[in-house]
Amino acid sequence: MKKGKIVNRETWASKMGFILAGAGSAIGLGNIWRFPTTAGQNGGAAFIFIYLFSVIFICLSVLIAELALGRNTKKNPVGAYNSISPHSAWKYFGILGVLTGWGIASFYSVVAGWTLAYIFKTATGFFSSMTSEQISSSFTEFVSNPLSSISLHLIFMSLTMAILFGGVKKGIEKWSKILMPVLLVILFLLVLRSVLLPDSKEGFQFLFKPDWSAITGRSVLAAVGQAFFSLSLGMGTMIVYGSYLSKNENLISSAAWVASLDTIIALMAGLAIFPALFAFGLEPTIGAGLIFVVLPNIFNEMFLGTLFGSGFFILLGIAALTSMISIVEVPVAYFIDEFKWSRKKSVKVAGIGAFCAGIPAALSLGALDGLSNFISIEGRNYGFLDFMNLIFGQYSLMIGSVGVALFTGWKWGKDKIIQEITNGYENFSYGSLYNVFIKFIAPFSLLFLLIYLILNPNAFA
Ligand code: TRP
Repeated sequence: MKKGKIVNRETWASKMGFILAGAGSAIGLGNIWRFPTTAGQNGGAAFIFIYLFSVIFICLSVLIAELALGRNTKKNPVGAYNSISPHSAWKYFGILGVLTGWGIASFYSVVAGWTLAYIFKTATGFFSSMTSEQISSSFTEFVSNPLSSISLHLIFMSLTMAILFGGVKKGIEKWSKILMPVLLVILFLLVLRSVLLPDSKEGFQFLFKPDWSAITGRSVLAAVGQAFFSLSLGMGTMIVYGSYLSKNENLISSAAWVASLDTIIALMAGLAIFPALFAFGLEPTIGAGLIFVVLPNIFNEMFLGTLFGSGFFILLGIAALTSMISIVEVPVAYFIDEFKWSRKKSVKVAGIGAFCAGIPAALSLGALDGLSNFISIEGRNYGFLDFMNLIFGQYSLMIGSVGVALFTGWKWGKDKIIQEITNGYENFSYGSLYNVFIKFIAPFSLLFLLIYLILNPNAFA
């Protein structure tokens, strides 16, 4: 028997475990909150088209590279760069990843905190007799209350820390196996309800009929950035997850599974949100509150809406938790490996640090004016949460991905990466094709985009 061929059943079981953990990281607020919000602000169908294009032509090769780097080095991002290229400047890409994890965790927890409150609001029928306007203003009022925003952020961060204290792997995998399919079923019912609403046609047009004139340089960046965010790429999450992967798993098909599941869920979220949004006469550009305003309206129109509504927010909270864990695990793994801190101390420092960094984000939806109107771009004001989302959830991830791709393609090199990929999978005949993607297409298309837009800030506007 050749190396890499092992008993089928065993391979499958462990691969399944990884796919679930990987999908657990990828599927979260990025798909259900951030994707519709960003698509709504950036013109719908054309944005989605660019998003899908990036997933296939840029992200997939970076995802494979991160997993291979992690599996090969068994390290956190900084350690991974260091062990392949000791004493070099590559490690700064790893350090950027650790910082980005802290930055994303800070605002991710704030939004996840809102979903916790919405579990109770829908379960108690809080929205059931409200009109669409009343649901909107109740969201605005809710997020502008500093006390509840910060306490919910604290609760969610504490949940994350509690799980991380005990280590990540076991429980989460088991839970994801049961809960993710349930989330899929409820999401499917929501899609059905949404598309069958009267006046849902406009929503379909918004989703499927590209209006290329709505595309600006900024929306191209937003679409590419969203693809990286949704697949948990660019800061080393997948390096850390790859470090738990066993050698006999097929990297390519694991990556393809994670990417497909993630993309399907995002598209379903779009299908659940936009037809309903137009049917209820709301604006696609409303921003961070989008799903919190549209979904309660759908639940009001749905058979057993209270049940499905609260079930949906419970599952969204859990999906957010499995993603949040994979975000905070990056700084935690870094502290443990590089500073030799205990897991307990590492989790405390990472969690409390991210909690503090999230406080201004929690106060930026109406609680404090200076934070709520933090920057102004083209006449539209953005709050501190949007700002963090832009800097860490978009630019940092793209820069980090340029780093991973350049490092893998140019420094680590074709032979070594192909060797790592083929460990469990002998007939990989696309080595040269993969090499072209990771060496040229992924890094240079991203670099081109970033540089072009720095030089021409108003491109395509
Ligand atoms: N992808 C997750 C989501 O869609 C969030 C996430 C987890 C993430 N790990 C990440 C985003 C690493 C960027 C980088 O909700």
